Amino acid sequence: MISGAKNAAVAILPAVILSDEPCIIENVPNISDVRISLRILEEMGARVECIAKDTYRIDASCIKKCCVPYEIARKMRASYYFLGALLGKFRKARVSMPGGCPLGDRPIDQHLKAFSALGAEYTLSQGMIDLRADKLVGNPIFFDVVTVGATMNAILAATKAEGMTVIENAAKEPHIVDLANFLNSMGANIMGAGTDVIKIRGVDRLRGTTYTVIPDQIEAGTFMIAAAATKGDVLIKNVIPKHLESITKKLEKIGVNIEQFDDSIRVTSDGNLVKANVKTTPHPGFPTDMQPQIATLLTLANGTSIVTEGVWEQRFRYVDELRRMGADITVNGKVALIEGTGSLMGAPVKACDLRAGAALIIAGLAANGITEIEDIYHIERGYDCMEGKLRALGADIEKVTVPDDSMSDSEKKVV
Ligand code: EPU
Repeated sequence: MISGAKNAAVAILPAVILSDEPCIIENVPNISDVRISLRILEEMGARVECIAKDTYRIDASCIKKCCVPYEIARKMRASYYFLGALLGKFRKARVSMPGGCPLGDRPIDQHLKAFSALGAEYTLSQGMIDLRADKLVGNPIFFDVVTVGATMNAILAATKAEGMTVIENAAKEPHIVDLANFLNSMGANIMGAGTDVIKIRGVDRLRGTTYTVIPDQIEAGTFMIAAAATKGDVLIKNVIPKHLESITKKLEKIGVNIEQFDDSIRVTSDGNLVKANVKTTPHPGFPTDMQPQIATLLTLANGTSIVTEGVWEQRFRYVDELRRMGADITVNGKVALIEGTGSLMGAPVKACDLRAGAALIIAGLAANGITEIEDIYHIERGYDCMEGKLRALGADIEKVTVPDDSMSDSEKKVV
């Protein structure tokens, strides 16, 4: 059963700030990035109540502070959504420069460009971003690169601006559509989300709503690849098959069988996997957040595959770890050449970021012998009970806590 989408939830939770009434958000994944977002809301004065499994009632009408402190914000990239939401509601925001996975240079120039276009001024000092606007006025925004975060932030800031904002070269990911649907269900007027031109007619106030976060496309894709890597037969429930199209097509090319149903997908593999070339691009292309997982699968395929990273500067840092497990991968800049070896060996390895960690779990499941993965806090940022879900499918995986004096890191997963 796939949980709610991380990258939708981490935008929708700050977006609640824009509403003058309480909101109920369902299908919220139980991951550390979400827990951080909820804590930030509480720190600022919002009332946050867990009213059922994965369901929160949030009353942000009592927010008094417009500041997200460094100690919390630095733990998570998505803390930058508090900039757009606070600016949209209070015309001011003070948020620490964001943290997140180390994937190379992660500038926020396009976010700032969008806020400026709407009339805000910003200063950067002491690691904090300060935004201020006498009033926000709808305007054209053209992004120089396709960016998920800046598109979401522009939507958040423009929802209550005066007049019409037109975002061009917008990102089209499913979580952008989900954020727009959420805001529209509160009374916003956002058109075109999911295309590269989004039009937002500002409204004065937003009401409360009850909204269900979409299923996590990347969690679903990760389980699809885990099934393919282990000659599995897995029915993955609570998915939107349309969101998985690029992953499904690529897996079929690699020799994996996929059956699609209304809200589930069945993945079977006999282990006969063939090489493929993969290039990550913004949606609807193959997602960068699936790159480490598919590269891991291709180490098990026959033949030489080429994987090209088209979004991030540095998303091959996990390759050294896979090599420790017997993978034959050569990286040259943004291109990895993978000689399929057909098998992997268990080894002690370290997760260097969220999706790298997921890839190592897949590698560990497919490998002969025991794999120990260190620094699993990265994985827990974005996967809701991954080891529990895998164990339910028959995987031999356990989360163990290692005493502090024996290792520098406190938790491991053993696969
Ligand atoms: N970029 C700029 N300037 C900006 C913003 C982005 O040049 O102001 C560049 C980036 O350097 C990058 C490209 O634009 O080369 C795309 O970055 P984007 O803004 O789309 O990424 P993001 O919003 O920071 C989100 C996800 C990432 C995911 C990317 C791409 C969240 C919280 N994070 O990041 O998710 O890789 O979109 O789809 O939504 C993950 O979940 O593992 C993860 C890293």
